[in-house]
Amino acid sequence: MLYRSLGRTGLEISELALGAARGTEDRAQFIPTLHAIIHAGINFVDTAEGYGDSEEALGEALVGHDDVIVETKHCPYESYAVGAKFVGTGEKLTAAAEQSLRRLRRDRLDILLGHGLRTVESLDRFMNDGCYDAMVKLREQGKVRFLGISELSEGDGTHEVLKKAVPSGAFDVVMLTINFLLQTAIDAVVPLCREHGVGTVVMMPLNQASRESGLVSLPAATECVRRHIAEGNLPAEPPYTEAELFDFLKPYSIPEAGLRFVLKQDVSACCVGMRTVERLEENLKAVAPPYMDEARYARLIELFGRIQQQVR
Ligand SMILES: NC(=O)c1ccc[n+]([C@@H]2O[C@H](COP(=O)([O-])OP(=O)(O)OC[C@H]3O[C@@H](n4cnc5c(N)ncnc54)[C@H](OP(=O)(O)O)[C@@H]3O)[C@@H](O)[C@H]2O)c1
Repeated sequence: MLYRSLGRTGLEISELALGAARGTEDRAQFIPTLHAIIHAGINFVDTAEGYGDSEEALGEALVGHDDVIVETKHCPYESYAVGAKFVGTGEKLTAAAEQSLRRLRRDRLDILLGHGLRTVESLDRFMNDGCYDAMVKLREQGKVRFLGISELSEGDGTHEVLKKAVPSGAFDVVMLTINFLLQTAIDAVVPLCREHGVGTVVMMPLNQASRESGLVSLPAATECVRRHIAEGNLPAEPPYTEAELFDFLKPYSIPEAGLRFVLKQDVSACCVGMRTVERLEENLKAVAPPYMDEARYARLIELFGRIQQQVR
């Protein structure tokens, strides 16, 4: 495993990280899988108060593994829906962090993020109406080490929230969307984070895939391209309409190419769900610098670099 700096935090984190949004319900499967993941050198896990029983499962599985860095999140909205109302307050954030500490069985949260900040207006409210002050207080009390935010999962390609938040100096870490079907953050956010010493944890490297659409298999990737064509993000013409569209990626599978594309970026880590040891073994194959040759990489930029919004 290779390790990269998490911005100015001083933490060195594994470039392949675990996204624990799903797959924690079956503890008999989750706990040995997590231990295999740690054994492989992965030392960074992303979770959230809103990911089902993820924090509790991690709390149980990480006993004796204090060196594993856990990032968790508090959502200051009514729900995870795109248009959800901002309802964040300092009191709610503090109470949520205390609950996360209890569920994770830790004295201190390594990283606490505001979850899915979706508009500049709500970022301003987060900063000025108590949430951010509560985060800072938790840090002063030694209950949180580092602060951050994640952008909205349904990436719109503008990254306006992160473009405002990163230069403010308020945050040590951001979670951002990059995959080869939504490349916008590569130019819009990553250099800004590098300039300001902010750590970059990539989410949705496989485009928040479902079995039907996303970067998990050739049929799912083909379906995702079809949906982009239907949305007008890609032209309804060759090569997008050809069955051979992804042939140039061989011998990589679609998910391996997806992870290699992200790992090639100047980011701190690529966070992906791995609910079985088989998935771990598949995804470890991508940890192989230089990750992707220039010809394949340039072709992915040429084909999909124009896409400005996520389609799932
Ligand atoms: N706004 C936010 O803060 C936010 C939003 C979204 C995600 N996240 C974080 O980012 C992480 C990754 O995001 P995600 O939404 O893409 O979730 P994910 O949990 O990584 O979803 C991955 C999907 O890809 C599949 N997969 C993984 N490795 C594969 C492989 N080698 N071959 C084929 N399929 C593979 C999984 O399938 P199987 O289940 O069949 O293995 C799963 O369906 C999440 O776990 C979460 O921690 C944060």
